[in-house]
Amino acid sequence: MSQIQNRAAVAPLQRHFSISADAAVSRPDVSSIVACMRPQEPMHCVRPASITAASQAFVRAFSGDVLYAVKCNPEPAVLRAVWAGGVRHFDCASIAEVTLVRRLFPGAAIHFMHPVKSRAAICEAWVVNGVRDFVFDTQCELDKILIEIGRQEGAALDVKPGLFVRLALPHSGAAIDLSTKFGADVDVAVELLRNARSHAGKLGVAFHVGSQCMDPLAWREAVELAGIVIARAGVVVDVIDVGGGFPVAYPDIDPPPLGAFLAEIDAAFDRLDLPHTRLWAEPGRALVAGGGSVVVQVQLRKGNMLYVNDGVFGSLSDAGALGFRFPVRLIRAKPVSGGAPMAAFGFFGPTCDSSDVMHGPFMLPNDVAEGDWIEIGQLGAYGSCLRTPFNGFDRAALVEVSDRPMLETAGYEAEQDGGPVSDILAVAA
Ligand SMILES: Cc1ncc(COP(=O)(O)O)c(C=O)c1O
Repeated sequence: MSQIQNRAAVAPLQRHFSISADAAVSRPDVSSIVACMRPQEPMHCVRPASITAASQAFVRAFSGDVLYAVKCNPEPAVLRAVWAGGVRHFDCASIAEVTLVRRLFPGAAIHFMHPVKSRAAICEAWVVNGVRDFVFDTQCELDKILIEIGRQEGAALDVKPGLFVRLALPHSGAAIDLSTKFGADVDVAVELLRNARSHAGKLGVAFHVGSQCMDPLAWREAVELAGIVIARAGVVVDVIDVGGGFPVAYPDIDPPPLGAFLAEIDAAFDRLDLPHTRLWAEPGRALVAGGGSVVVQVQLRKGNMLYVNDGVFGSLSDAGALGFRFPVRLIRAKPVSGGAPMAAFGFFGPTCDSSDVMHGPFMLPNDVAEGDWIEIGQLGAYGSCLRTPFNGFDRAALVEVSDRPMLETAGYEAEQDGGPVSDILAVAA
């Protein structure tokens, strides 16, 4: 008889330099840690100050409630930094995320914003974790939610749930479109709002324009579409949730400032003239991308392809098929005299799979060699959380560092750590 073992899918990050939150001033910088540890496995670097600053900037600028999209990076150090930035609401997509957030922050408001949930997850979220808000895009899912929460407390519920209809949107040109998988079209959304109203303590319309969406007008059009749906449904709607998707900088990608997106949202929302309706947003990438990097080591150089110890089955998934270019900097294993000119490199990840390739191009000094380290930045979002144990490459370290983000990050003041990082560093052998 086979025995199912309860095993984590991927080895947990090995925490080093664990430092209490109030001792942030003593956090080391990435180069010092590399010099000390000479890491031979990928090392994830969390920059709490960057995450807190970006979270604070979003909370201050947005006119409604800000829900952090936990899927983007559920690392506790990241969640604490988001919390320190004033975020008190969390968008969770699974019962594991719900449980994690509840354990870390007993007072947090948790919202279950995945449109398709297991019955067990709905029950556990409602009964054990006090989750009251659920999203859906079909009548079947609405029925499922109502049955599962009703079953726990009898037909007459003391507390009515918050019920959110996820609206599908036309493709916005975002790097990652989410409306091909989720969302009700206008006719269905109208019907769902009407059907949900009498069961809902709070009724909402939610949408997602797609991740890393560069066009502020995508939100204007989406809010207008939500307005059309609400008007046709003829019911009071308490919340319009404008989702996530707010973009960040990558090499050669310079998005408009956050204010440009929020101005479009506010203006479109004002035009709807819904005095009883509140705005919510679910940013992920915008809060945490600048707050994470991974240090990889070069294991072999073949021409301008570098074989490194993390890849598309690890934390560099978006550098693979999606072709994201991340900022890089070299940390040399041995000091060299003089500066080498920059050249374009591609990376191969550590697995035996030929799809474990990242074409970049990534610009590095052309004498990069085996043993050198490369810090890859803007990886706080959709980086370490996408790691798999494929081929046995699932070990990685985690450190909290004081470095500034590698690219400009909303809300982050360069003065916080006394100046810019140099691009190329050498550590003593
Ligand atoms: C429902 C929902 N909300 C928020 C987000 C966060 O999006 P982003 O990281 O692009 O801000 C996602 C990402 O997939 C999502 O699915």
